[in-house]
Amino acid sequence: MEIFFQVQSKWKVDINLAFAWEDEGVDDACHFSQHCAPWLAISPAWRDFKGKKSERVVLYGPPAMEISRAMVIGLGKNKFLIPSKTPQYNDFLEVRNAFAKALCACRDMGLEHVGIDIVSLTRVASTLGYTKEEAAREISLAAHLCLYSYTKFKQKPEKEAPHIRKISFLLDDSFCSDELKDAVRYAEAEACGICLARNLANAPGNELTPQTFADEAEKVASDHSIKCTVLNAEQIKSENMNALFAVGQGSACESRFVVLEYTPKNAKADTRPIALVGKGVTFDSGGISLKPGASMHEMKGDMSGAAAVLGTFETLGQLAKLGIFPSRKIVGIIPLAENMPDGKAIKPGDIVFSKKGKSIEIINTDAEGRLLLADALAYAEEKFNPEYILDIATLTGACAVALGNNAAGVFATDNSIAQHIQNMGDKFFERAWQLPLWNHLLPGLKSNVADLMNCGPREGGALTAAIFLKQFMDEDRNWVHIDMAAADNADDAITPKGATGYGVRLLTDFAFDSFIK
Ligand code: BES
Ligand code: MN
Ligand code: ZN
Repeated sequence: MEIFFQVQSKWKVDINLAFAWEDEGVDDACHFSQHCAPWLAISPAWRDFKGKKSERVVLYGPPAMEISRAMVIGLGKNKFLIPSKTPQYNDFLEVRNAFAKALCACRDMGLEHVGIDIVSLTRVASTLGYTKEEAAREISLAAHLCLYSYTKFKQKPEKEAPHIRKISFLLDDSFCSDELKDAVRYAEAEACGICLARNLANAPGNELTPQTFADEAEKVASDHSIKCTVLNAEQIKSENMNALFAVGQGSACESRFVVLEYTPKNAKADTRPIALVGKGVTFDSGGISLKPGASMHEMKGDMSGAAAVLGTFETLGQLAKLGIFPSRKIVGIIPLAENMPDGKAIKPGDIVFSKKGKSIEIINTDAEGRLLLADALAYAEEKFNPEYILDIATLTGACAVALGNNAAGVFATDNSIAQHIQNMGDKFFERAWQLPLWNHLLPGLKSNVADLMNCGPREGGALTAAIFLKQFMDEDRNWVHIDMAAADNADDAITPKGATGYGVRLLTDFAFDSFIK
């Protein structure tokens, strides 16, 4: 699907989409659409349309006209007419979702070219505090994401399914501004990274192994002139990453360790890098502490943190093509392993020496993410001395218990960065909420035979996991940890059932060090 612009009086699409608040007349809601579709106001179906939330109407005009179909999307009451009510970021979420559902309906009708009335969109968006460009970016991204499908393993060819090929923003001007074009191109760069992350997380464990993930990383790196180094299991050992090695030692698929180094054009010389670390467990059976069978298949997505990191590099590569560069070097660190039970697998009670030197008693082999992250964080610190380290991981079921589905927990050594990420989570519709880094939970990880146990009490499981990770970096390191265990999967307006691609937008924003005031 490609996104275009059509300027005034050159409009031609299969269907034109417009937005309406409840109880508005056609003149208010679709003033501009009426120009390109003069039949709109007298279309009989309009009479019964109330503009209620989740209400939609398809209207038909004379088939010979350039625009002979329209769909009006109801948004419910315009509560912002009440002066005391100020719009929240999430109010636009409802507009975006209503749009995404409408677009999917157009696809299911078999239409190939969909127009969006930008005057109608801007009118609604501005009520909610969004500029025309911001709205166009969100709507473009939503279009790419809601039309995504993972069909690699379907026998029926993709071509047979209905397919939207073009979306055009219909402009009331005789030209399209650069700002508007840039907004749409920016969304395309984001969509590339997010769809890559989705493809990786939707891929089954027999297709996506540590090696094939590393192959994908090398592909992204060579597409965008990013440096990529891949360590094999032996090299992981010689780097003393014994905790990472331990997780993968029961698998027939050897572990890998990917290091991406992106030095943007004109990167400031006097800055230290930002490191992005992603948990890459290509399948998590739990190991000898085997998981129950019921949803075990979902653990093919236990590399969603790694996918978010690689997706971010893809987006950064696409943005570079648009001439947009972060001001620092960005390092990506992706530890990859498959957690399996086997005669060679790590056992409860086993002890390993991590890269940082601390010994870990492995109480539960299912708490494997923190093992591979402990070594990855220590590696990032030792090799790159980053000014900021961010890790993202599907780490604990407890995080889902704390925050519910479709949200991630954010832990940070700097409160203002955690708050920034929380705000950006609202802005990007990647829900994120700060949880505390509490040292008093550390005694819960005390072992009688090693320096630390890999898991503690059930209570506050997401918090003890975070405090465990913190032990593998220097005291004063500026560090952010995102637990995305409850945000990796969805089935909603912009996510066909499966992987969300969560984190790419937040990490891309982080790479531009926008958290520094
Ligand atoms: N990958 C899981 C966490 C997870 C659970 C992700 C559900 C997505 C959905 C992680 O490796 C794990 O098994 N964590 C354990 C930790 C426990 C043994 C301390 C958990 O959350 O139960
Ligand atoms: Mn696990
Ligand atoms: Zn896991």
